[in-house]
Amino acid sequence: MTDFDTIIANGLVVNADEQQICDIAIRNGIIVAMGTNLGTAARTIDARGKIVVPGGIDSHVHIAQPSGDGIVMADGFASGTLSAVCGGTTTILPFCLQQKGQSLREVLKDYHAKADGNCHADVSFHLIVTDPTPNVLGQELPALVEEGYTSFKVFMTYEGMRLYDDEILATMDCARETGALMMVHCENEDAIRYLIGKHEDQARLEPKYHATTRPQVVEREATHRAISLAEVVDVPVVIVHVSNGPAMLEIRAAKARGRAVVGETCPQYLMLTADDLDMAEWEGAKFVCSPPPRDAESQIACWEGIETGVFDLFSSDHCPFRYDDPHGKLSPDGKRSFRWIPNGIPGVETRLPILFSEGVAKGRIDLQRFVALSSTNHAKLYGLYPRKGVIAVGSDADIVIWDADKSGPILQTGLHHGADYTPYEGLHINGWPVLSMLRGSVVMEDGEPTGATLIGKHLARDRSPLVDVARLLNDSPG
Ligand code: URP
Ligand code: ZN
Ligand code: ZN
Repeated sequence: MTDFDTIIANGLVVNADEQQICDIAIRNGIIVAMGTNLGTAARTIDARGKIVVPGGIDSHVHIAQPSGDGIVMADGFASGTLSAVCGGTTTILPFCLQQKGQSLREVLKDYHAKADGNCHADVSFHLIVTDPTPNVLGQELPALVEEGYTSFKVFMTYEGMRLYDDEILATMDCARETGALMMVHCENEDAIRYLIGKHEDQARLEPKYHATTRPQVVEREATHRAISLAEVVDVPVVIVHVSNGPAMLEIRAAKARGRAVVGETCPQYLMLTADDLDMAEWEGAKFVCSPPPRDAESQIACWEGIETGVFDLFSSDHCPFRYDDPHGKLSPDGKRSFRWIPNGIPGVETRLPILFSEGVAKGRIDLQRFVALSSTNHAKLYGLYPRKGVIAVGSDADIVIWDADKSGPILQTGLHHGADYTPYEGLHINGWPVLSMLRGSVVMEDGEPTGATLIGKHLARDRSPLVDVARLLNDSPG
């Protein structure tokens, strides 16, 4: 009989606010002690010389999302979550996308049917509202927020899915009343459609024109508008997947005015540019995502946003499609025009190695900021803290061990997602995760799945503390 199930010994344990060399004792999936000379365990993992961090949380992921027109997403929940844990992420927040005319209950039922019992990581759903009917806003969302679906995203772009400003305001008002957190995809759909029309008139149809029809200004304008709309109804807002300096500066300015605005950026905006969309033989399709990757100056601006705290979230926006596949990027329509190439790239497995290598190893951020950006801030913002996002007594034993000395390239052959390519093929990485543990079970070791059964489960979330603070201020008399 041992004292604990597992002890992780001798590692440098890093949280967002402190770091120390110590042991971690785990029983029944929970961290029960931290320190030295803790006792005996069925398994002791020696982490000497390694970095021990809270399991990564990726709060922006698309999995098994219906796309229409014969397009099929490359990951279901099994492959998407396997890919996540192999890249050091133990919790993901995927979106449940409402189709026009669909009730949110129906959407959630469909997604739960796909996810439940099929996950290697824990999951917790956001909702994407595309049809804010009186029933959705007045009945469904209030009930679902109570049940732990405490965040929703709206699109300002994508034909058939974008909301008009009055609909965004009504959805934001619902968020204010129910205490949910709003996430907004900021691109000006009317300007994009106008530019697409002009490109089509001139037969400019190659993948690279995805970028020129979605220039920085359409993102900057929409970011300004989303922040302004949030101010009209006085709600906090998360600006997702920010790609460039001017949009970043809108968030910085809003924060300086005292607005509760949170910025998120993603690996593609640090590592890719619009030139990647200009590859021969339609290969640029591999890099089509929205907003599109920009240029070297934008990459520098996004790093500045990370380093200066304008961006609190570093997410993947994992949205995988196979490339060489009639149901993916090279669908019959996708081969004809950039307009029909499915938007999105894979990245749930490469997100943290890229942040570690380009951020920590290159001295742009320290380990504690790495933990904040990769895990703690997501847990705090989306109502999972302190159950997730921290190595502390009482928290879930979601723990990842990193080897800063392990180096090598990202290769598609080494990844576990369902896509047939990675946009980062050959990118050299210094520092890889070597062990992932979900609630006490080792799910990845030496970069490979351990074969642990599908233990991931869906998590109901608390309301965001950001919203609660805003509600408190609003509710206080006088
Ligand atoms: O191109 C992207 N980002 N696809 C995913 C959907 C979204 O807008 O986040
Ligand atoms: Zn989006
Ligand atoms: Zn997305």
